[in-house]
Amino acid sequence: MVRIRTTTLQERKRAGEKITALTAYDYPTAKILDECGIDIVLVGDSCANNVMGLPDTLGITMDDMVRHVKMVSRAVEHALIVADMPFLSYQVSTEEAVRNAGRFVAEAGAHAIKLEGPADKFGDVIRGILRAGIPVMGHIGFTPQSVHQIGGYKVQGRGEEARARLREEALSLQEAGCFALVLELVQADVAAEITTSLDIPTIGIGSGAGCDGQVLILHDILGFHPPRSYFKVYENVAEGIRRAVNTYIQEVKDGSFPSEEHEHR
Ligand code: KIV
Repeated sequence: MVRIRTTTLQERKRAGEKITALTAYDYPTAKILDECGIDIVLVGDSCANNVMGLPDTLGITMDDMVRHVKMVSRAVEHALIVADMPFLSYQVSTEEAVRNAGRFVAEAGAHAIKLEGPADKFGDVIRGILRAGIPVMGHIGFTPQSVHQIGGYKVQGRGEEARARLREEALSLQEAGCFALVLELVQADVAAEITTSLDIPTIGIGSGAGCDGQVLILHDILGFHPPRSYFKVYENVAEGIRRAVNTYIQEVKDGSFPSEEHEHR
């Protein structure tokens, strides 16, 4: 399989072919995703709440993220690896942002980075990272690092003013040089409208089927969290782990382990 590059994704959009993306935070799951032929492996800062047991994405650090991106990049041979810039890694200054984005590429093996927020706040940061030769994926709509400012997990783009603002933000991020744009919890019709108006691909999460591609959190679709309206559980792996562990505990307790086939001969 050939390596997916940012340009491959743009060719996909032009050809009308959908783009697939999932999160991964470690070697074994990233390897499975890559072997299945996923286009983008996103090492999301959602690692904070899916793997580290934190309540939201605000507590994960650059060092945490670099460690997880390294695990993923050791496994992936085909997909584009996008590393998520964590809270406070790009908001303070362009210089810090470029250095942190550079760590993801040089130390950890990422191919691109993603950051949350519009170009009127982060245009300079985006241009600085691009000057260093690192592709940037934008992320608008619901942006989890601003959850306290937004006032909760809410669908974005309701009302004419909000729709116009989202359309404008999408265009400015394209003009700033982003190679793709995540649209999170954006009203489906607005997301579809943005998708047709842009040259770069949109990757939706909870934003309807009209985007150029979709991204979901692996732990969500494997049953680690109760299903929500925008994702389904494709396979209840969490339940499978529970069953396996309970069987093991039972076998150890009732003396049926080790069974004959487990014994060394
Ligand atoms: O961190 C993450 O997993 C993300 C997705 C929700 C797009 O940013």
